[in-house]
Amino acid sequence: MSKNDNSQRLADAALAAMPMAYAPYSGFQVGAAILDESGHIHTGVNVENAAYPQGACAEAGAIAAMVMAGGKSIQAIAVAGRGDLLCTPCGGCRQRIREFASLDTPIVICGEDGIKATFTLEQLLPESFGPDHLTKDDPD
Ligand code: THU
Repeated sequence: MSKNDNSQRLADAALAAMPMAYAPYSGFQVGAAILDESGHIHTGVNVENAAYPQGACAEAGAIAAMVMAGGKSIQAIAVAGRGDLLCTPCGGCRQRIREFASLDTPIVICGEDGIKATFTLEQLLPESFGPDHLTKDDPD
């Protein structure tokens, strides 16, 4: 399957998830879909809370679904939200994605009408800190 087919598949999954979001406070529903290394897709939505800071982003839900299903890495991720502006992942979610992705992993941004833009993780999170920073140096 080509890169474009994967992007379209992921965009469709993120858009299908979006209406399931629980967003009674912001009214802003977000859907996310991850393609893992086995070709499986994992989706998530934002889940808000009356205690506002306890709300969770759609990307966090999709990552949790991937981990629970045994997926190890994010090959691509799509994020879908309504409105004129690009629904790019928040700063915290960029770091969450960083944990399981490569710097060249595509992040596909979707609106109601489909794909609006694609970025690499490195474009959205330059000079980032990741798991490789914590690998211990060999003792001399
Ligand atoms: N939201 C996400 O789910 N993902 C993002 O990357 C940006 C923001 C959610 C959080 C909150 O429920 C709503 O969008 C408004 O900020």
